[in-house]
Amino acid sequence: MSEKRIEWNSNFAFMMAMIGSAVGLGNIWRFPNVLYSNGGGSFMIPYIVSLFLLGISFVLVEYAVGFRFKKSIGRILFSISKKLEPIAWFIVLIVFLITTYYVCVVGWDLIYVVLSFTKAWGANPDTFFASNVLQATDSISGIFQIVPIVLASVFAIWFMIWFIVKRDLNDGIGNVSKILLPTLCLMVVIIVVFSLTLPGASIGYTQIFTPDWNALTNLNVWLAAFGQIVFSLSLGMAIAMTYASYLPEKSRLIDSAVTVAFSNSAFEVFNSIGIFSILGFMALSTKIPFDQLVTEGTGLAFVVFPQVFNTMGPMGSIIGPLFFICILFAGITSAIALLEVVTYAISEKFNIERKRTVTVICIVGFLISTMFATGIGSTILGAFDAFLNNFALLLGILIECIIFGWIYDFNKLIETLNKDSRIKVGKTWKAVIKYILPICIAVLWIQGVYSTIT
Ligand code: PFF
Repeated sequence: MSEKRIEWNSNFAFMMAMIGSAVGLGNIWRFPNVLYSNGGGSFMIPYIVSLFLLGISFVLVEYAVGFRFKKSIGRILFSISKKLEPIAWFIVLIVFLITTYYVCVVGWDLIYVVLSFTKAWGANPDTFFASNVLQATDSISGIFQIVPIVLASVFAIWFMIWFIVKRDLNDGIGNVSKILLPTLCLMVVIIVVFSLTLPGASIGYTQIFTPDWNALTNLNVWLAAFGQIVFSLSLGMAIAMTYASYLPEKSRLIDSAVTVAFSNSAFEVFNSIGIFSILGFMALSTKIPFDQLVTEGTGLAFVVFPQVFNTMGPMGSIIGPLFFICILFAGITSAIALLEVVTYAISEKFNIERKRTVTVICIVGFLISTMFATGIGSTILGAFDAFLNNFALLLGILIECIIFGWIYDFNKLIETLNKDSRIKVGKTWKAVIKYILPICIAVLWIQGVYSTIT
């Protein structure tokens, strides 16, 4: 049975869900390292250029398409041309696989939320992570080494996102985003303010805001900025398309896309002040060189930060849980957006009720996450992460630029966006989508291949 068309019951719910989908693990543990390794303060220039020129431009395509068609990605591409439908399913498949991987990492974080109250990772968080969570093993038998706690936490996250997405849009995703996102922002403010009071904080934050102007002449720095915007805004995965399809008439699309993109970046820049101050404190207290501490991803969150909380004394048992809960909230609001894309596409295509669809997706998803959460899977997880960063997301963007920039009548999208918005778009936007974005992606790929072979 297909449900009656659903709509966001308030612009606030839509904005919270959109910002929540963008603010995720990438903002917290990816951005600081990218910023630091690409010129510190001067990185903000390519970053802001990428945000406005490429990021916002692309988000606008998804907004316009979702809003105009009011359908899921499968149906949208089908109505443009039947031949394009398989491409939609390819994107949905990638989004589904990303969800399985993303949930696995958020599951690991849930373990750390619990451990952080008592710092139960012990004196050596690196060995703890490798042997209890990652299950590093090079044998195929690793797949059978299932650690119950890891599985239970991955299951718990799948259960939570199932529980949210199976409900009605406003009741589930809308309400949860309205609660989790403001709480997340409040917690980040507390962490940043506290971190600035730590001895050594200035070792951290001055480093990121010290510009290296030479970096601006390096193409890789510009590409890194573009890559961060792509990841951080979750571009190319039909998330904005899906959420915008639930918008009521008379919505101000451009204004809201700009607000979402801007809030996402403000979040990551602000949060990085806290991360760097904390790492500065660590550098001062342990005499470990600062640049050795600025890692990214799981290494930063599950190894370096537990070490920091060990060093902090009793305050570590307060800031530690806050930090891991921030990652949890940021992860959940992104995971529900990913799951919604898949759910909407499948339930609309096969005319299956939302609840049933989401249940099946979550069961299959949990089984795949189980693989990531076991020994053999941890190797796949690394490879998948690289595939995602260097290929999958960019491919999604390229496909959408070609379909909507070249095959579909682009002027219809301009008309849709300009209708009720205060800011208007025109020829420059069209040129960005048709030429500049595809060229940037091609250059990124060539650079990726080049750096792998050299
Ligand atoms: N933008 C979110 C983040 O920065 O974590 C969500 C996300 C991005 C999910 C990229 C998945 C992904 F591949």
